[in-house]
Amino acid sequence: MKINVLTLFPDMFSPLQVSMLGRALEDGKWDLNLVNFRDFTHDVHHHVDDTPYGGGAGMVLQVKPIKLALESLANPGKVIITAPQGQRFDQQMAQRWADAGEDLTFICGHYEGFDQRVYELADETVSIGDYVLTGGELPTMSMIDATMRLVPGILGNSASPVEESFSHGLLEYPQYTRPADFEGQKVPEVLLSGNHQKIAEWRHYQSLKATWLHRPDLLKERKLSKEEQMMLDDIKQESGQDAF
Ligand code: ADE
Repeated sequence: MKINVLTLFPDMFSPLQVSMLGRALEDGKWDLNLVNFRDFTHDVHHHVDDTPYGGGAGMVLQVKPIKLALESLANPGKVIITAPQGQRFDQQMAQRWADAGEDLTFICGHYEGFDQRVYELADETVSIGDYVLTGGELPTMSMIDATMRLVPGILGNSASPVEESFSHGLLEYPQYTRPADFEGQKVPEVLLSGNHQKIAEWRHYQSLKATWLHRPDLLKERKLSKEEQMMLDDIKQESGQDAF
């Protein structure tokens, strides 16, 4: 899968080039093409922005350099603008993009807004949350990271994404490793028992409990099985609280 990024700051993208994604990049399992759209300006000062029509503070990113940069790509695939007013990015969106396997092109703004006509060049406008960053580079890196790690063959251990937070609409269960007793804090007995059925049940219960305690909103969006409903009743009793 190839990811194109149109940005004024290609140097910001080094975090994607280390660790697991960096290794996969080196191994040619995916491709990152950073395009500086300032290279597509033709005036002496290489301006990419201008003052807004109608007046007002700040500058606005022009449509032409971005359109030319997009047109320079052999296959842009799905074109995504990162902006706070976009649709909220989440695990399901990452999974859809990973499953589709289509190349992606991200357009990153910086400091200022885009000329409205830039939005016409994109298939989707996507936000990572209700806060405003100085540019689209960090959101783009988050979205690339969350998506690429779900593409089969990118992560070393292909089993791990299936069991993690959000993939079943629940938060992750607690994990432990050696030592079994750390300064009096003991690993739950069941995890040392070797009883795989019991361990699976305990983990399921703990996932549901963590979700109910920390992200009850996720349970409203998820249909619970009969077994989970019974677990939830126990959790509520155990924690002395009732409905969220
Ligand atoms: N650019 C600036 N803030 C952003 C956000 N929250 N999400 C996506 N792009 C952005």
